[in-house]
Amino acid sequence: MKVLVAGGMGYIGSHTCVELLEKGYEVVIVDNLCNSSPEAAKRVAAITGKTPLFYELDVRDEKGLSAVFEKERPDCVIHFAGLKAVGESVEKPELYYDNNLGSTITLCRVMARQGCKKLIFSSSATVYSADNAMPLTENSKTGGCTNPYGWTKYFGERILTDIAKADPEWSVVLLRYFNPVGAHESGLMVEDPKGIPNNRMPYISQVAVGKLKELSVFGDDYPTHDGTGVRDYIHVVDLARGHVFAIDYLMSHTGAEAINLGTGTGYSVLDMVKAFGQASGAEVPYRIAPRRPGDIATCYADPTKSREVLGWKAERGLVDMCRDSFRWQSMNPNGYNG
Ligand code: NAD
Ligand code: UD1
Repeated sequence: MKVLVAGGMGYIGSHTCVELLEKGYEVVIVDNLCNSSPEAAKRVAAITGKTPLFYELDVRDEKGLSAVFEKERPDCVIHFAGLKAVGESVEKPELYYDNNLGSTITLCRVMARQGCKKLIFSSSATVYSADNAMPLTENSKTGGCTNPYGWTKYFGERILTDIAKADPEWSVVLLRYFNPVGAHESGLMVEDPKGIPNNRMPYISQVAVGKLKELSVFGDDYPTHDGTGVRDYIHVVDLARGHVFAIDYLMSHTGAEAINLGTGTGYSVLDMVKAFGQASGAEVPYRIAPRRPGDIATCYADPTKSREVLGWKAERGLVDMCRDSFRWQSMNPNGYNG
């Protein structure tokens, strides 16, 4: 079976390529490298002993993408190719709508023409409304997103659901990721955010190796066990394996199905600071800062559907996430640049 991985050079995509190759799938990556490095494919090859095919191409380039489909004839597609920086999406909304929705629509058009109608889409817990009770099930309310990035995921899901409704040959799995963290246990794969990281885990990792001075904890007066924000962190290798399970489901069903990929357990910022300190052997310096606008107190998944429908569940815990993040950060303090 051949899987075309759009955005396969990125953080989650490259980890997924490792799992796919280890399962014996053929992998073809299409990526324009706008937020990644070709080094990722070399690291994938170093871990698996197999080099994925790579086309440097923007997924919105319909002619170029059609040529790749003609040549490679993939059986299914995983679509990671998107921009993901929340703050940047507020400043440059048209860039986000064009890239994230344009890539999805172009991909679907080319796939339909080629008769390849099986697609896994990278969605996000960000599609859920802020006023839901926890844990979030796939039937929790969606919409009311607070930024253009979130809306691109919401509309992406809508577009794909409508396509699957209009043509019963389509099979679409909408995977709603919670908070992916960590890295492959080899330490060879990295999350390589450009500039100062916005998210908590890359930030803590860089504080732990001394690259940044201290972590700002955004608010300690939330209604949580220690006042700091609680999230459902999921090890990226568990998340990557979730895609392999989703392929089995994709190939044997039609229609569109949304599925949470989370652990079902929430940890606070201070839980994470403590666990990271244990994993790295040194305390992580932090200071309490004001709340970050748009943040919610608590967000975690009900993972029942992923277990029942895909037969998948997360196996790695907080200690693994912190240990593996610290390992790659120590081995690659400047990401893939050394
Ligand atoms: P990433 O930036 O590391 O990977 C995305 C990859 O897509 C990059 O290699 C980038 O170069 C490529 N890309 C972007 N636009 C493209 C285009 N038009 N044509 C070709 N390639 C393009 O991000 P990631 O963390 O691996 O996330 C993968 C997907 O998962 C994204 O769609 C993201 O929105 C979604 N997601 C991520 C998170 C997270 O916390 N990392 C959470 C929920 C959802
Ligand atoms: C962010 C994105 C969301 C995306 C998700 C998954 C925002 C507003 N939302 O959500 O769209 O789907 O990542 O990757 O960016 N924190 C600190 N100090 C920091 C960084 C974060 O205290 O330097 C806190 C936050 O206040 C929050 C928690 O850590 O309570 C997690 O933050 P983050 O990693 O940015 O993830 P989300 O807020 O869940």
